[in-house]
Amino acid sequence: MESTLGVLVHGAGWVSTQHIEAFRRNPATEIVAISSRRLGSARARAAEAHLDVPCFDSLEKALDTPGVDIVSVCTPQHVHAENVLLAAAAGKHLVIEKPVATGMADMWAMREAVRRAGVKTVVSFVLRWNPWFRTLKKLIAEGALGSIYAVEADYQSNIASWWSGYEAARRLATGVSAMLVGGCHALDAARWFAGRGEEEAARVEEVFACRGGWRKGCGREYNYLERSWRTGMPPLEYEGYEVYLLRFAGGVVGKVSVNLDCIMPYTFPIEIFGDRGTVKDNRMWSHLFPGQTDWIPIPTVLPDSSDVAHHPFQAQMDHFVTCIRDNRESHCNLEDAFHTHEVVFAAQECYRTGRPVRLPLPRGRRRKGESHPGSRSSKA
Ligand SMILES: NC(=O)c1ccc[n+]([C@@H]2O[C@H](COP(=O)([O-])OP(=O)(O)OC[C@H]3O[C@@H](n4cnc5c(N)ncnc54)[C@H](OP(=O)(O)O)[C@@H]3O)[C@@H](O)[C@H]2O)c1
Repeated sequence: MESTLGVLVHGAGWVSTQHIEAFRRNPATEIVAISSRRLGSARARAAEAHLDVPCFDSLEKALDTPGVDIVSVCTPQHVHAENVLLAAAAGKHLVIEKPVATGMADMWAMREAVRRAGVKTVVSFVLRWNPWFRTLKKLIAEGALGSIYAVEADYQSNIASWWSGYEAARRLATGVSAMLVGGCHALDAARWFAGRGEEEAARVEEVFACRGGWRKGCGREYNYLERSWRTGMPPLEYEGYEVYLLRFAGGVVGKVSVNLDCIMPYTFPIEIFGDRGTVKDNRMWSHLFPGQTDWIPIPTVLPDSSDVAHHPFQAQMDHFVTCIRDNRESHCNLEDAFHTHEVVFAAQECYRTGRPVRLPLPRGRRRKGESHPGSRSSKA
């Protein structure tokens, strides 16, 4: 019988609650340690989950715990790179929260560290395991919409101080952009649905981006959970609204947006157009139903909540454990997520030049006085 895989959860905040729960429920894994910046947070998380495990105030110390096979990186995004470098060097498999990094220099360093260590990774583009995403991916792969020519996905979430991670996310240096912080879920969705195979996310060859909105620098904030306004709040340091136009390899055209400035509850609209059918959210029109006279609604779980407890982390972690056991790569590994993040950093370049940017970004291409955003050399 195979021994259980030991999990160390690092960064004892909101999303860690779901990582802990998912690994606790998986019969092949067990939580063996929790660490965070503050020891008290790690201990509180362990107590809340009724876990009698050692707790630490640093990843370095926690990695010495016997029996750690997997490290779940649940810290804020600007800390992910140093966490991944450390854990990969220690030979640990990695669950990495999105966004995985805040600049290309960190992305390249992480990819190299993981390749060198030969460890398995999964990045929490958790919606790939959402029931409607899974259904849709299968319908596309089986030709229900014919050949896909256009994909649209929009991440519309009034991220604000109700979120424990907001302080790091709202800042330019540690959040970078609305698309990086939250919209990357929609970008990943567009890549996923533009990919033909059941486990294939399409590659973006070119991106053009526009940004706007009203919240950048504004201390007025809406809390849609309480339906109340507040003033004098810490503002977003970047534009809350962005639209990307994408040209995928294979010719599919994509439109992806992020809207943190919206005054409304969370929504995640999806539109997919093929030469034999169309999908709008969970409504379908397909050549498979020649007698259809109206949209066919598919009862499912939509990606319509920002609550981490609503996200399918269980299915993501179960998938990852199977990948480790079967010695195969996840379709959502760091190599794949690298490309999604590269599109975001290419869009940042587009804002500087006003021109579409082709991918992949050549390593080290920099004009005098410029660097890729958030790269080690551009950090304050
Ligand atoms: N996949 C998804 O759908 C999803 C959903 C939510 C969040 N996320 C991502 O998950 C990450 C964490 O988000 P969250 O909502 O859990 O935020 P959070 O509640 O702020 O949790 C982050 C935790 O990390 C700890 N931390 C902060 N700085 C640290 C540092 N320098 N070193 C070590 N620990 C540090 C903090 O704990 P102490 O300071 O108290 O020790 C904090 O509780 C973010 O990157 C976010 O984008 C992803």
